[in-house]
Amino acid sequence: LFSQFAIILSLLSVLVMVVLPVQVQAEQKQRIIRIAHNQSSNHPTHIGMEAFEKYIEQELGDKYDVQIYPSELLGTQTNMVQLTQTGAIEITVASNSILETFNQQFQIFNLPYLFETPEIYHAVMNDPEIVGPIFNGTEESGFITKAWLDAGTRNFYVTKGPIEKPSDLSGLKIRVQQSPTNVRMMELLGGSATPMGFGDVYTAIQSGVIDGAENNELALTENGHGDIVKNYSYTLHQMIPDEVIVNSRFLDELPAEDKKIFDKGFQIMQDTQHQAWQEKVEEAREKAEKDMGVKFNYPDTAPFREAVMPLHKEVLEANPSLEKIYKQIEEKAKTVKAEDKEAQADAK
Ligand code: GCU
Repeated sequence: LFSQFAIILSLLSVLVMVVLPVQVQAEQKQRIIRIAHNQSSNHPTHIGMEAFEKYIEQELGDKYDVQIYPSELLGTQTNMVQLTQTGAIEITVASNSILETFNQQFQIFNLPYLFETPEIYHAVMNDPEIVGPIFNGTEESGFITKAWLDAGTRNFYVTKGPIEKPSDLSGLKIRVQQSPTNVRMMELLGGSATPMGFGDVYTAIQSGVIDGAENNELALTENGHGDIVKNYSYTLHQMIPDEVIVNSRFLDELPAEDKKIFDKGFQIMQDTQHQAWQEKVEEAREKAEKDMGVKFNYPDTAPFREAVMPLHKEVLEANPSLEKIYKQIEEKAKTVKAEDKEAQADAK
């Protein structure tokens, strides 16, 4: 009996010594890549992340396991950016707004009425000569930007709405993103800026802590803000991209051949998100209007623009290194408009 026991014991120990480590090794062979964002799993951003996951795992599934954490599961955007700086999260989607508190250069894209049209906005963001220095120049902050995602235009919705002119905002508490530029913008518009994380906005409006907010149409549907606020005014005051930021050490350590595949993956992520954005915004507008009873208003944007334009000068004076990119954006706008005119003339 004793010898049988000894045999079983030694077999067991062989199992523990040989089989288990092999299993552990197999599990360890796949590097986990965590992607964090603050949108629902129906949002264009999530759809973009899924396309990335699919591509990376199809090409390099033996080496990498991509895991997506939506809905602020890993914290608010500010928390997620901090975790990406340390490498606890490899990839985060962060609004350009809050990134200015990590690296001042991002301030440029937070300027209200920086882009006249979505076409100019896209042309600028897609031009590596313009955005490259900002996207790649933040290594000392622990991350770099590998893709930009469309977040449409930002517009006001308040319980005591609709907002038709800047003075309608006076005395109202409006949620803004946690960014000095956005706080200053609200000041110039005459409202009272209440900075808070995205996930807290619904309850804050519902409980009357704030009078309203400003965001794109998906906030009405995906975040349910249209349940509480029944008007939405197209002030079009900002087009703020979401940036896909990646821990720089993680990128540095990628083997060259994997890096190529990741770069393609980021492009697929961006293209997929941009396309899904177009479709989902249309859906959201319809849903908000028909199912939620939200009324869309189209105020004259000129007085809003006039009120906030001093911010351009303020920011450029405080941070003169942004002048170059500001000029590049102006040039790009001219080119896009000239091309537009030509295309229109050709069509006639
Ligand atoms: C948009 C944007 C998010 C951002 C949110 C906000 O939804 O895509 O990145 O967090 O606005 O207002 O905080």
